[in-house]
Amino acid sequence: MEEVRHEATAKPAVAFGINPRFTGFERLDFEALFGNANRVALEIGSGKGRFLMTSAAARPDVNFLGIEKSLHYYRVIEKRLARAALPNTRIINHDALRVLGAMIPDASLSEVHIYFPDPWPRKREQKRRLVRPEIAELLLRVMRPDASGVYVSDHQDAFLAGRDVLMTYFATEDRNALDTPPRTNYEAKYRIEGRPIYEVRFRVRS
Ligand SMILES: C[S@@+](CC[C@H](N)C(=O)[O-])C[C@H]1O[C@@H](n2cnc3c(N)ncnc32)[C@H](O)[C@@H]1O
Repeated sequence: MEEVRHEATAKPAVAFGINPRFTGFERLDFEALFGNANRVALEIGSGKGRFLMTSAAARPDVNFLGIEKSLHYYRVIEKRLARAALPNTRIINHDALRVLGAMIPDASLSEVHIYFPDPWPRKREQKRRLVRPEIAELLLRVMRPDASGVYVSDHQDAFLAGRDVLMTYFATEDRNALDTPPRTNYEAKYRIEGRPIYEVRFRVRS
């Protein structure tokens, strides 16, 4: 008798990666995306995805969405999320400015996490820093009234400039980063190196 072989489907049932160049820069419907109405936490600049992976595993009742501009790191994260099959994770591959402006609904985020964004130390490059007024304005639109944010950096000058921006738009509170276990690869590396690490939390003003 002829043997019937079933091809194993290579694609995971869930698409963990979102590339808006193909799917479109449309407003996301988080309930449809995650299949639940749980709170959504956003990380901007996810690197290799350590924060997304560990947070999503530890807090299955929260959905974790990452934005990562680099195609290389996006692919690394997408593979890791698919391998771990954490249903409460997704990663978007594009610049945060465009994603925030086009894809994130109003008052939809409960948390915003920004860890070690590129410091752009040279004077003429500083306008490229992630934590700048146009990003803060978008964050104000997409954060829920009860939402909170975390901004962490090792670069004092870039940190203080970003903190000033956040203070203009949000209520802020300085924190000692060492009070929290390392959340990302950069944080783990820099702590071993003994670099100073700066942290500020921010909230929508009531
Ligand atoms: C210095 S790494 C830090 C990675 C990670 N957050 C960590 O702490 O280990 C900064 C990351 O942010 C990403 N990134 C920089 N600017 C971005 C932007 N405008 N939108 C999205 N991702 C961005 C970079 O590609 C890079 O992966």
